Amino acid sequence: MAPVPSSTYSAITLNINGEKHALSVDHRTTLLDALRERLDLTGTKKGCDQGQCGACTVLLDGRRAVSCLQLAVAAEGREITTIEGVAEGERLHPVQQAFLDLDGYQCGYCTPGQICSAIAVIEEHAAGWPSAATDDVRPEAGPPPLTPEEIRERMSGNLCRCGAYVSIVQAVARAAAVEARTAGNDTAETAENAEAAA
Ligand code: FES
Ligand code: FES
Repeated sequence: MAPVPSSTYSAITLNINGEKHALSVDHRTTLLDALRERLDLTGTKKGCDQGQCGACTVLLDGRRAVSCLQLAVAAEGREITTIEGVAEGERLHPVQQAFLDLDGYQCGYCTPGQICSAIAVIEEHAAGWPSAATDDVRPEAGPPPLTPEEIRERMSGNLCRCGAYVSIVQAVARAAAVEARTAGNDTAETAENAEAAA
């Protein structure tokens, strides 16, 4: 029987991958545990459980977040996207396809977090957000070239115990190029160069 809302439990509704899920949670329940243990959305992985490995990365309102440091009650009202929700039906997301085509994984444990993170990285870059690897951070400079260094820096919160980093950087670069071409964006060529240089 579901626990009754009290000073330690709340009834919440989480909007995950476009579907609403009603559940009652202890206020201390992390979003990661709610996804995995309560809703059987086990694609999101638990690595360190303390915000250091990125395995639990999901998208909250389109921005990446480590779900092990997010309380489920605080995620109410947000649009949560997990790895189960990034494909469109049978059509993989370009980032998923690139990871598959370029072997951007070995054991695959870190991969859902890497993919969710990469989806947001490509959007952050296209929107002109600088990173610690960006030389010219003036807003008028626009998006910096998407070099392997830029990708490594932007993906540095996602660790891979298998060390598949070279393929991961290539996969992010390829997906960025595909998305830039689809959007008619002139950063496609630099993204292709980053794949070759990774
Ligand atoms: S499990 Fe969340 S960052 Fe490692
Ligand atoms: S593929 Fe095994 S941890 Fe990254």
